[in-house]
Amino acid sequence: MIDWRVPLSDVSFGEAEERAALRVLRGGWLSTGPETRAFEEEFAAFVGARHAVAVANGTAALHLALLAVGAGFGGEVVQPATNFVAAANMTVAVGASPVFADILALDEPTIDPAEIERRLSPRTRAVVVMHYGGHVARMREVRAICAARRVAVVEDACHAVGARYVDGGAPELSGRAAGALGDAACFSFFANKNLTTGEGGMVTTDRDDVAERVRLLRSHGMTTLSWQRHQGHASSYEVLAHGFNYRFDEVRAAVGRVQLAKLEENNRRRARLARLYRDLLRDARGWIVPFAERGEESAHHLMVAVAPDAGARREAVASLRAARIQTSLHYPCVADFAAFCERGGAGARTHDSPRRGAAESLTGGDLSRSREFARRAITLPLFPAMTEAQVEEVCDALSGAKVKA
Ligand SMILES: Cc1ncc(COP(=O)(O)O)c(C=O)c1O
Repeated sequence: MIDWRVPLSDVSFGEAEERAALRVLRGGWLSTGPETRAFEEEFAAFVGARHAVAVANGTAALHLALLAVGAGFGGEVVQPATNFVAAANMTVAVGASPVFADILALDEPTIDPAEIERRLSPRTRAVVVMHYGGHVARMREVRAICAARRVAVVEDACHAVGARYVDGGAPELSGRAAGALGDAACFSFFANKNLTTGEGGMVTTDRDDVAERVRLLRSHGMTTLSWQRHQGHASSYEVLAHGFNYRFDEVRAAVGRVQLAKLEENNRRRARLARLYRDLLRDARGWIVPFAERGEESAHHLMVAVAPDAGARREAVASLRAARIQTSLHYPCVADFAAFCERGGAGARTHDSPRRGAAESLTGGDLSRSREFARRAITLPLFPAMTEAQVEEVCDALSGAKVKA
């Protein structure tokens, strides 16, 4: 095991989280109950959405959101090829096919609205956007395309808690938070996220029907929770749908409430460090730091730089590793994972043909920007407690890999 001098991310927990967890443990009620309800209400108010429903994790949030907006058996879900695999896996889980769309550019790795247009079909039930690294996707264009075709928009907002959409051309949307920009939005509270409860997730929505469906499916399709029965508000239940156990719990809700209260300050720290990174990498010849124009509204979940070529990326990763600085890749092109290549169709991967995703063969695109991004992108350490000296150290180690002019 490598003892990283600078890890990729780190949690910012303190006494307040400890006190919150202890309060719940001493209170004796552990499964979904009043703390979860309070966390949901505070989260909904923070995002500016009518509803927030806490669930087991971000993947469960995507699963339930897709079901609630009607993406089911035989449908298609257009989504970015540059994403964590959860959205594509959950698309398959609901019986639909993922149709992968390319990203806009190496310096804006969110879904390209023109690609959405090209990949919509009569079977499209939803479009998933992902706010990469905490930078909100081009929601004005995405919403217009989807509204015209009556297709639901699901935000994969797992990177973007606290991010805002800023767009002078869309005053009605500008200033809205990630999570209040589609039919449903999904958040993750995994350990590396800006707001963490270890594992956890949330669905936000303005639609009453979506919230009701997610709430029902979260707990086996049952009409009442144990908490309501414990309180004497109900003594029995009906089962209205084939649901899951994707419930959240009280310890995590209590920790989540403390994390939510700290979020804006933590995101401001991330923003300051991201600015410093950007300044220090300015002279790195051939390197791109994405989202140069759109810094302030981001949640700054990730600090990503794009190397001049795949060789320079490899050299940089090795040089940082030698300095015990952790890096990562967000993300390999989802269409190129074996599970997606092997879903049949003309695009299936063989030993002597280029990698092609099966879903891609439905629409004939080449996902060249997502693939190029995967060859050249490198995620650098970023977390609220990181020091400026550590940012300088990371950038110095990158210069050791001869990235500078
Ligand atoms: C963009 C994105 N989508 C979905 C997920 C899935 O969330 P979780 O790990 O909480 O299931 C994650 C987190 O890992 C993510 O980063």
